[in-house]
Amino acid sequence: MKKKRIAFVGTGGRALSFIEPLATTYRETNELVALCDLSPARMDYYNKMLAGDLGYHAVPAYPAARFDAMLAEQKPDIVFVCSKDDTHHDYIVRALRAGCDVITEKPMTIDAAKCRAILDAQRETGRSVRVAFNYRWAPFRTKVKELIASGTIGRVHSVNLEYLLDTNHGADYFRRWHSRAAESGTLLVHKSTHHFDLVNWWLDAIPEQVFAYGDLVFYGKENAEKRGDAALTKYPRYTGEPAAKHDPFRLDLDESAPFRGLYRAGEKDSGYLRDQNVFRPGIDIPDQMSLNVRYRTGELLTYSLVCYSPREGMRVCFNGDRGRIEYHEFIGTHMNRAVRPKDFKLDEKPGAEAEGEWIKVYPHFKPSYLVPMPAATGAHGGADEILNRSFYAPDAPAKDEWGRFAGHEQGAASILVGIAGVESIKRNAPVNLTDLVPLRPEAKHLSELV
Ligand SMILES: NC(=O)c1ccc[n+]([C@@H]2O[C@H](COP(=O)([O-])OP(=O)(O)OC[C@H]3O[C@@H](n4cnc5c(N)ncnc54)[C@H](O)[C@@H]3O)[C@@H](O)[C@H]2O)c1
Repeated sequence: MKKKRIAFVGTGGRALSFIEPLATTYRETNELVALCDLSPARMDYYNKMLAGDLGYHAVPAYPAARFDAMLAEQKPDIVFVCSKDDTHHDYIVRALRAGCDVITEKPMTIDAAKCRAILDAQRETGRSVRVAFNYRWAPFRTKVKELIASGTIGRVHSVNLEYLLDTNHGADYFRRWHSRAAESGTLLVHKSTHHFDLVNWWLDAIPEQVFAYGDLVFYGKENAEKRGDAALTKYPRYTGEPAAKHDPFRLDLDESAPFRGLYRAGEKDSGYLRDQNVFRPGIDIPDQMSLNVRYRTGELLTYSLVCYSPREGMRVCFNGDRGRIEYHEFIGTHMNRAVRPKDFKLDEKPGAEAEGEWIKVYPHFKPSYLVPMPAATGAHGGADEILNRSFYAPDAPAKDEWGRFAGHEQGAASILVGIAGVESIKRNAPVNLTDLVPLRPEAKHLSELV
């Protein structure tokens, strides 16, 4: 059997979740043919790991400027895009035009023009784009899908989703590129794409119109000074800063081999500082956001994201003709420390202890009950492992019984809620998604989209 030739662009912390299984569990049927990144130091770190701990071998490493040469020389079947969000569209389009299929990390891209460029390139080339929405693949979230799809509470008319990012994981977005809208599209795109995708998929619905508010109220220099935390604003970054010793927001890039190898070593060649002060000037994304969404099939979503919470997790409530489902997910806090999946562990943070997840059904006029939960262990609630199987295993089914594969159109249906949200905040007015990207106006349900 011919091995699938796979090249990676973007060798930061996240890529390890996909490169490690490819080079170990799935190496008999897949071949890692090349790496591409802005930072030669980061690619070198991966190559040392591939040739060392992973028992694989080093692969050709291409600087970002030689991406097209990589495609021409290594002839990958699939390009896996794991780079910074604002670069996804460029690599997706170039890979498609070179005849490759693409798997991309979420968000597929960060604004409407870039989204249209991806959809155009896909249409012209007929190649496939898959978006790695790992949230869909966690067994407990699939359980929610199963309950809704089987009509447990009849037709669902409205959803409330509250997502809390904490002062550990949430703060981490404000240390780096995510804190600039031009690079991440704001967290309404970068982060909330997961949540909007879940709701689209749970309801099998396509979002139509968004109204949003968003403000920066906690992070940034000005906010810290206003509430009397000026002392936390006095240094530009944390590593090697004696004054930050007792700062609860500090991140020490000297703390671990992966941080040193990936980020400290890559500072000079890429200019990327991974540990900037979360209370510095120049942060231009909101840290609390609130949205209303209407779907083409009439449902309503009330959504909020807060990024400075003491605890991390989400609460989702579905209201249907025959009752209500409440889903609570407080599975602890972690930030990506670029460790191998086997070394994954939750961060210990007082007040943010894992409470687990549960689903409770409240039927009209009957006693409520808890739904037995499927087991879920590992990174992202077990999602990454199942998702990787779907990418790499030769016997992975081409279709999934829960419709968990997401192509370019479903990728667009999710980011467009965030992109419309950003636009709505700017205009202080509701925004129609089809005015941004005319995503198959005749379709009603998400499952009609690729
Ligand atoms: N699904 C999830 O759970 C999940 C978790 C983390 C990250 N992600 C996604 O994975 C991607 C990578 O995130 P990360 O946490 O690894 O970030 P990171 O900052 O650790 O890595 C980003 C990498 O992109 C590279 N890069 C930047 N500009 C580039 C360019 N022009 N060309 C090539 N490479 C470039 C950087 O050098 C760096 O190596 C992002 O799109 C992010 O949204 C998804």
